[in-house]
Amino acid sequence: MAVTGKEKTVFFCTNCGNEYPKWMGRCPACGSWNTMVEKTIVTGKPNKNAGAGSIPGRKPEKLADITSAQENRISLGSEELDRLLGGGLVEGSLVLIGGEPGIGKSTLSLQIPLSCKGLRTLYVTGEESARQVKMRADRLGGDASNVSILSETNMGTIIAEAQELRPQLMVVDSVQTMYSEAIDSSAGSVTQVKEVTSMLLHFAKVSGIPVILIGHITKDGYIAGPKILEHIVDVVLQFEGDDKGPYRILRSIKNRFGSTSELAVFEMTGTGLREVKNPSELLMPMHEEGLSGTAIAVMLDGLRPFVFEVQALVSTAAYGTAQRSATGFDVRRLNMLLAVLEKRAGFKLNMKDVFLNMAGGLRVTDPACDLSVVCAVLSSNIDYALPSDICFAGEVGLSGEIRPVNQTDRRVTEAARLGFSQIYISKYSSLSKDAAEGIKVVRVADIPALVRSLFKG
Ligand code: TYD
Ligand code: MG
Repeated sequence: MAVTGKEKTVFFCTNCGNEYPKWMGRCPACGSWNTMVEKTIVTGKPNKNAGAGSIPGRKPEKLADITSAQENRISLGSEELDRLLGGGLVEGSLVLIGGEPGIGKSTLSLQIPLSCKGLRTLYVTGEESARQVKMRADRLGGDASNVSILSETNMGTIIAEAQELRPQLMVVDSVQTMYSEAIDSSAGSVTQVKEVTSMLLHFAKVSGIPVILIGHITKDGYIAGPKILEHIVDVVLQFEGDDKGPYRILRSIKNRFGSTSELAVFEMTGTGLREVKNPSELLMPMHEEGLSGTAIAVMLDGLRPFVFEVQALVSTAAYGTAQRSATGFDVRRLNMLLAVLEKRAGFKLNMKDVFLNMAGGLRVTDPACDLSVVCAVLSSNIDYALPSDICFAGEVGLSGEIRPVNQTDRRVTEAARLGFSQIYISKYSSLSKDAAEGIKVVRVADIPALVRSLFKG
């Protein structure tokens, strides 16, 4: 490789990571002011510091000549976590675990080596001292003999130590505290975060050692501020949930070695995170009697269905303008559903406050939950409790029609397994005979039909 590189100056926005040839006061992409920083890059030959681009000695190979051997996977000592990763951690992969501060990222990543007997692990921490990690490890219990702690933030030192130690797993907590000397900006800036991640990816790919990288997430859901990290890493797991409640949801939002939209539920206990194997039982209502304003949805996480409670409170607006608020659900979607109820079913909701909550701190994007949101709102509006043995799975369209959702069979089977006596689905869903065994399936075509069946039947 005799190509000599040419130096070029570019400008990065430290907010969104976009690159520009010249400095600007305001980033055209994200609109933020005074966020541009200068960076010198070398073009023409692979940049030594660029990490991912510089895997040496690679030549094009014929696709047919490449053996499709299964990747080697390491079990992480937790069935749920292994399932989320698509059957264990792939050797040489870089996994990003994102989540708000205090949600349990450090706990989870320390628990992994402690619960895997004999998995030699290097745990690098830039957030806590080695003693603090030790205290946490004592609380978590397990086998600490194979875990080495390195309290360091300089990436050069970290990689050198890892190369010497050659662990079977490396954990880096967190990407925002690490820095590379090759870059002239402070730890946590977009360019540093990007560089640190690329270095770790390169390290993982060349050494075959899997790396778990922790990243803080801002309130608006971006990992490390910009979304750019998600493109670099192999797997992105995101921690969600209410940090005051005991339950945490770990969701896979990107996985180069398995399916996404899988999720695992954990419970934070005094001695660390405990996996919850059957989330349905946990998210089921806590009350025996039906209460108005609740409806049960059957949602799907990856291929696994589970049920949870949707709660709504509809009350007369106290100050003229109605408030709408949703926890765990898109508030624009809620507004749309309320507009549909108003227009297609004649419910006067424009002067009402509507509050919506998904049980267990769950964040829901499955459109099949529409039907239970609508039912919870209607139930609260007229203060009529729905029977507690009914559940729902259907999408609501703009003209008030109830639309079929994917995997109806699985949802119906799960509802029957959990002892529900009725499930409401779209009139147009296709359903196999076997799935409907032991449960009454009520098919509804639109909102007026739903209201007739539920409230006037
Ligand atoms: P932590 O893993 O430090 O969060 P993060 O790394 O995502 O910032 O977890 C912090 C919370 O977990 C903290 O509020 C204390 C609680 N916790 C427990 O309840 N039990 C435990 O065994 C541990 C280690 C932490
Ligand atoms: Mg932490």
